[in-house]
Amino acid sequence: MEKQSGITKETLLNLKEKLKAGVLPQWVLADRDMYDLEIKQVFGRTWQFLAHESELKEPGSYVTRWIANDPILLTKTKSGEIKAFLNSCTHRGTLLCTADSGKQKSFTCPFHGWTYNNEGDLVGIAVGNKVYGEEMNKEDWNLRPVPNVDSYQGMIFGNLDHKAESLSDYLGNMKWYLDMMLGRSDGGMEVQGSPQRYVVEANWKVTAENFESDPYHVQFTHKSSKELGIAPNDPFFPGHGHQVVLDNGHGINLVQLDDTGISPIPYQGMPESMWPMFQKNLNKEQNDMVKDTFFVGGVYPNLGFLQFTFPLLDSDNGFYNFLNFRVWRPLAPDKVEVWSWHLIDKDAPQEYKEKSYVSFLSTFGPSGLLEQDDAEIWSRVTQASNGIMAQDKDLSYNSFLNYLMGMDRVQPNEDFPGPGVAYPLCFLDTLSRSMHKRWIDLLLAETPVKEEVR
Ligand SMILES: [Fe+2]
Repeated sequence: MEKQSGITKETLLNLKEKLKAGVLPQWVLADRDMYDLEIKQVFGRTWQFLAHESELKEPGSYVTRWIANDPILLTKTKSGEIKAFLNSCTHRGTLLCTADSGKQKSFTCPFHGWTYNNEGDLVGIAVGNKVYGEEMNKEDWNLRPVPNVDSYQGMIFGNLDHKAESLSDYLGNMKWYLDMMLGRSDGGMEVQGSPQRYVVEANWKVTAENFESDPYHVQFTHKSSKELGIAPNDPFFPGHGHQVVLDNGHGINLVQLDDTGISPIPYQGMPESMWPMFQKNLNKEQNDMVKDTFFVGGVYPNLGFLQFTFPLLDSDNGFYNFLNFRVWRPLAPDKVEVWSWHLIDKDAPQEYKEKSYVSFLSTFGPSGLLEQDDAEIWSRVTQASNGIMAQDKDLSYNSFLNYLMGMDRVQPNEDFPGPGVAYPLCFLDTLSRSMHKRWIDLLLAETPVKEEVR
């Protein structure tokens, strides 16, 4: 049997069969061999979100990011082109740029002083003429570009796989929903501040699933919000709405408030003066969704998003909408670095932007009311998955996690107006199963796999 870094093909095919039956073994949440295989097969092959274009405003701007263990330097060149390189000096491999972001024309390695311009060209070698002479061609030692870089709706992605499919094909029918969340304003969306970063002792699959496909957790994990009277009391909240399964493991939950006893706030509290602009830029179906629902989902494997509002508790109790992107960067089988961006419409009034930022920080910032609840649970899942019993790979007794919710019981809503397969509720494991099926397919794949959902 072919070996894949300690996990056999037989193991993976077995996982696939179990998933078809609606279960997955717990050991996959904390296994070192599985983690190593994921880094190569999942993170080495999928399109990874790097930055929003508003973070690189002017020529010379740069940010440093990561794709799992690969440090990435993103620059905006003189001509306005965005480039991405391995953030590693080609001389001896040192991490080249150690700052998070800034603006400069060149990058000098702190080890021996080799200098690169923001096009990635090696332009200076310390005492080069004396020690290397004319024979060494500088062009052979330029920064290594990320094999694929592309953007959609201002979101810049990179892919480390030379044979990767296009970003457009990869996003597939998720693009319709990205248009909805990023294309409603004339000036687009912009990032406020820098991305928040913090480390949680959790497996990346736990955090990714919690965001993309698990509205079922809300009334228990976030019980305190319900008890404080700031979230609906309805035990089925936020199950009302649609869970939409999209191409390649992507998906979205569009949550409706109508049936919860709380009236929906049009456009989640965006200023009324902006509503006609949204109606102009979105088609009717997209506009209805933005007006009447809040949504949470993900671009597989590890980009989560949330379009949300919540009463601003420390100020005027007003509702301020925000868009949050987050990347779950795997650091170890039981460790993830959360990268979390706040976005709001560039055209929104400055005061609104500031309150939207506070609204984001007080709910889903690292010390936010809701983020604290989630982070505690993510690490508890991972803690409880590390021991001898949970890690037992002899699957003869009950060591499986339950993904049976809604299985074979809930039929798609054929009249749903957006792309994808939409189910008429959000308390459902269908999207989780789609994510994990994609995960196993990537682990098994020799070449990129594409899965189209309608
Ligand atoms: Fe949560």
